[in-house]
Amino acid sequence: MRVLQVSAELFPLLKTGGLADVTGALPAALQAAGQDVRALLPGFPAIVAGLRGSAPAAEFDAPWGEPVRLHLAHLPAATHGAPALAVYWIEAPDLYDRPGNPYEDAAHQAYDDNHRRFALLGWAGAQLAQGLDPAWQPDIVHAHDWHAALAPAYLAFAPRQPRAPRVGSVFTVHNLAYQGLFAPWHLHELGLPPAAFQMNGLEFHGQLSFMKGGLCFADRLTTVSPTYAREIQTPEQGRGLDGLLRSRAEVLSGILNGVDDRVWNPADDRHLPEGFAPRRTAGKTRCKAALQAELGLAAQAEAPLFIVVSRLTEQKGLHLVLAGLDDLLAQGGQLALLGSGDAWLEAAFRERATAAPRQISVTLGYDEPLAHRLFGAGDVTLVPSAFEPCGLTQMYGLRYGSLPLVHRVGGLADTVTDCTLEDMAAGTATGFVFDHFEQPAYARAVRRAFALFRRPADWRAVRAAAMRRPADWGQAAARYVALYQQVLAA
Ligand code: ADP
Ligand code: GLC
Repeated sequence: MRVLQVSAELFPLLKTGGLADVTGALPAALQAAGQDVRALLPGFPAIVAGLRGSAPAAEFDAPWGEPVRLHLAHLPAATHGAPALAVYWIEAPDLYDRPGNPYEDAAHQAYDDNHRRFALLGWAGAQLAQGLDPAWQPDIVHAHDWHAALAPAYLAFAPRQPRAPRVGSVFTVHNLAYQGLFAPWHLHELGLPPAAFQMNGLEFHGQLSFMKGGLCFADRLTTVSPTYAREIQTPEQGRGLDGLLRSRAEVLSGILNGVDDRVWNPADDRHLPEGFAPRRTAGKTRCKAALQAELGLAAQAEAPLFIVVSRLTEQKGLHLVLAGLDDLLAQGGQLALLGSGDAWLEAAFRERATAAPRQISVTLGYDEPLAHRLFGAGDVTLVPSAFEPCGLTQMYGLRYGSLPLVHRVGGLADTVTDCTLEDMAAGTATGFVFDHFEQPAYARAVRRAFALFRRPADWRAVRAAAMRRPADWGQAAARYVALYQQVLAA
């Protein structure tokens, strides 16, 4: 099958969160499963800079009339001998040639032409599906998140040529909280008929919803964990879209993300001072000592090191970490945080680090190598999110033996098994899970982590189980392939 993956980010070219990790890993896993995959991306400066061998592939007009050029290039394979990934990128400098974050300006304001910037991404996807590049026409368009969500809508409204092959569409929701809402009067710029703007279409409380373009018009819907697939069908977590999602429950499924071994493997990670594995953990002890020295934390092997690698937003539940910090320090722990986001969270964590620099380290900003060193050094990875579609940091915590402490929601519930006596006896415990999104429940989970840390043999057993937990992209890719086949067979 020829599969076109459409997204706004792709690791290692451009990443603001887990979306890029997934869109970077899935094509390789699909290729390994024998599929012919190409990616489509906006021509953001970081994307163009990271690609090789760009050549013009086609020209077309944006819905608002502007001529646009499409290039074909490739992303060299991450591992020797693996195939490179063919990537189309959209040249529209007035829309994409802006430094920094792909969605917002330096003042954290969403760009006011985002409706055009991301409509063009979906539009280009639909053009390719309709044969824009005669050398390669996809069977399936797989769009990710609201940025790419108009691709299925454009396809649904495209005039069907007689005898043209049917192109299927799959839309994956990575986070229902970001919907791509715009003023309704932009509709006429987007090249969709007025009929698209209705309740069973792009209309959402009078606004134009890109997310609904994907949810209403894609042949199949997926999200990134089975639990989140159920949660978003409830009024509590459906963000106003639960009714629509329930009405499409038959085509909605949850496929758990994996861990990209090429990037996240503690035995072979160029960012770590020393590698380690489940049966060879001396390297992890040295990673911890090195990180404590690097960050100015007290050099204490016996102090459990709690880490956070996160966007600092309300989603991530970090107010629980702040409120629990005194307790954590009183029990002899340390905290190392890497993150960026909401100003109040940044300021609150920075203040705590200034007051206790030997116990708390806070690094504000985005730093991929430091993220690896934190997972390598950590004893516990804190992910107390209010909601979490899948979550990758807890999976990296598992793989790197930095046991996740998580709220039982979404993908966190699907990937971490609490240290109950029965799961420890069965060898299936991998972390610390709390149920109620409240301080006492979080604090108890932290105390559970301390209690286990004081029992080194048990700690080592749980850590080995965590590191061995399978988190294979191959399995996820097989499920996507099965889904694509269903679409084409329908
Ligand atoms: P989300 O996509 O909601 O942010 P995920 O857990 O799925 O959450 O993915 C987050 C990804 O972003 C992980 O790869 C994590 O390591 C990375 N990340 C988050 N914040 C930072 C940061 N400040 N520096 C480096 N990497 C970060
Ligand atoms: C989103 C979600 C996160 C998920 C990631 C990749 O950013 O917030 O939970 O892991 O997408 O699917």
